[in-house]
Amino acid sequence: MHFKNLFSHFLGTVLLSTSVKSYLSAKSLPKMDFESITAKNNEARSFNSPASAKIAIDNVRVFNGHDIGPATTVVIDGAIIGDNTTGAKQINAKWATLIPGLIDSHCHPSNITHLQDLSRFGVTTCFTMACFETQMCKSLKGHTGLADILTTTAPASASGSAHGIITAMIDPSLLIHNDSQVPA
Ligand SMILES: *[C@@H]1O[C@H](CO)[C@@H](O)[C@H](O)[C@H]1NC(C)=O
Ligand SMILES: *[C@@H]1O[C@H](CO)[C@@H](O)[C@H](O)[C@H]1NC(C)=O
Ligand SMILES: *[C@@H]1O[C@H](CO)[C@@H](O)[C@H](O)[C@H]1NC(C)=O
Repeated sequence: MHFKNLFSHFLGTVLLSTSVKSYLSAKSLPKMDFESITAKNNEARSFNSPASAKIAIDNVRVFNGHDIGPATTVVIDGAIIGDNTTGAKQINAKWATLIPGLIDSHCHPSNITHLQDLSRFGVTTCFTMACFETQMCKSLKGHTGLADILTTTAPASASGSAHGIITAMIDPSLLIHNDSQVPA
C-alpha cells in the first residue's frame, strides 16, 4: 500500500477502531525511496510551462460565492480574467458551473500524479499536515498548473500513540517521550 493511501487509511481507522495500535504494530510501513521520488518530482518541474493561450469559456455559469449566475462567457488571458474574446481559444462548457479553486486542508501527496489528481478534482491548494522528508515535500512545490502545496514539518507524536507508531517507523527520534522534550 502506498504511503498516501496508508495515511488516509490510518486516519480513518484511528477514529473507528480501538485496536488500531495492535493493527499498526502488526504492519510495517513500506520503505519509500524518498531520494528518487524527490528527483523525479524536481525533474517534472522543467516540463511545465506557464499557461499562455488565451481561453474563452462559453456557456458557463459562474458561482460568485452566493449564487450561480446565468450562462455567460469567461475569458482567461494569463493572469487576467475578463470578457475580451479576441484571439481566444473557445471552449464550450455546456452550462457547467465555474467555481473558485478548492482548498484541501489535509492531504499527503508524494508525487506529480497526486498533484495532477488533486488539480483534476478542482483542488488548487492543499495542506500536507505532516512531512517526514523535507526535500520530498519541497519537491512538490512550485509546479505550474498543478495544485499549490503548503506543508508542515513532522508532527509532534507521543511514544506509543497511534501516530507515534507511524512516526517511529520513519524516524524514532521524532517522538516526544516526556514533558521536558515538548519545548524543543
Ligand atoms: C481585445 O483584445 C484584443 C487583442 O488582445 C485587443 O486588440 C483589443 O483592443 C481588445 N478590446 C478591448 C475592447 O479591450
Ligand atoms: C505516484 O504514486 C502512485 C501510487 O500512489 C503511482 O501510482 C504513480 O505512478 C506515481 N506517479 C509517479 C509520477 O511516479
Ligand atoms: C525524557 O525523555 C528523554 C528520551 O527518552 C530522556 O533522554 C530524558 O532523560 C527524559 N527526561 C525526563 C525528565 O524524564
